[in-house]
Amino acid sequence: MASQTLARAAERKIAPHIGVEFTDVDLNQLDDGTFAAMRDALADHGVVFVRDQQLTPEQHIAFARRWGTIDVNNYFPANGGHPEIAEVRKAENQQTNIGGGWHTDHSYDQVPAMGSILLARETPPSGGDTLFASLSAAFDSLSEGMKATLRTMRAVHSADHIYSADGIYSKTDQGADLKGHDVRTHAVHPVVIRHPRTGREILYVNPAFTLHFEGWTRAESQPLLTYLYQVAMRDEFQCRLQWSPGSIAIWDNRSTWHCAMNDYHGHRRLMHRITISGEPLN
Ligand code: SIN
Repeated sequence: MASQTLARAAERKIAPHIGVEFTDVDLNQLDDGTFAAMRDALADHGVVFVRDQQLTPEQHIAFARRWGTIDVNNYFPANGGHPEIAEVRKAENQQTNIGGGWHTDHSYDQVPAMGSILLARETPPSGGDTLFASLSAAFDSLSEGMKATLRTMRAVHSADHIYSADGIYSKTDQGADLKGHDVRTHAVHPVVIRHPRTGREILYVNPAFTLHFEGWTRAESQPLLTYLYQVAMRDEFQCRLQWSPGSIAIWDNRSTWHCAMNDYHGHRRLMHRITISGEPLN
């Protein structure tokens, strides 16, 4: 019963700056109170992790719709008859994985996605973890002088160098699985955004999709971007999720990065991802 779900659900922080795990919940019977607690936890901790869920694709979609409108992915193969579900997969005979570098999803969109809901379907016997980093904690750690400078700047984002016909994936064994080679993306966002729910400041650049600062060349941008990325990648700002079939993570795409470890060659990993639409950044 719904009220029992609320009474039993518990939250446990995964790491000091990022990540919270909910236990004793069944996402198929989630009452409004526990859902509200999960929404608050996502805003505060960036990633919410839940294990041992039995969700059909339809139930995964229904859970995602509680968070907002679904953004259909342009690039990843869809799951069977469910265009809302993007498959993130690596077969036994593939070397390259999807999302194997630090990134945040959809920063190349004019209105980037709010977040994603990733459900593990098949996992390797070991490895295949996902790392998450808090870009709010990374921003907080900077000097007041650096923060003030960054608040005046904007950055250009695109995914074309990754997904186009001659992009990075086209040269790998994931190339044939991906689509959207003709899609063109270009967006300019503030380098420092405010979280729409908490108002907390967030460093909003990422190694995969940020090309350069607005009005700066790529060569001029690179040293400062590299410095900021080194700060954001510090262990202290990270948490690590270890998956098994039925594990599910919901992450806030504005305040976090993630990186899928590619350390399970010879084994299959299949994840179902649904992405939730966001709102304009400021
Ligand atoms: C992603 O980058 O969205 C996929 C992350 C993962 O497979 O762990």
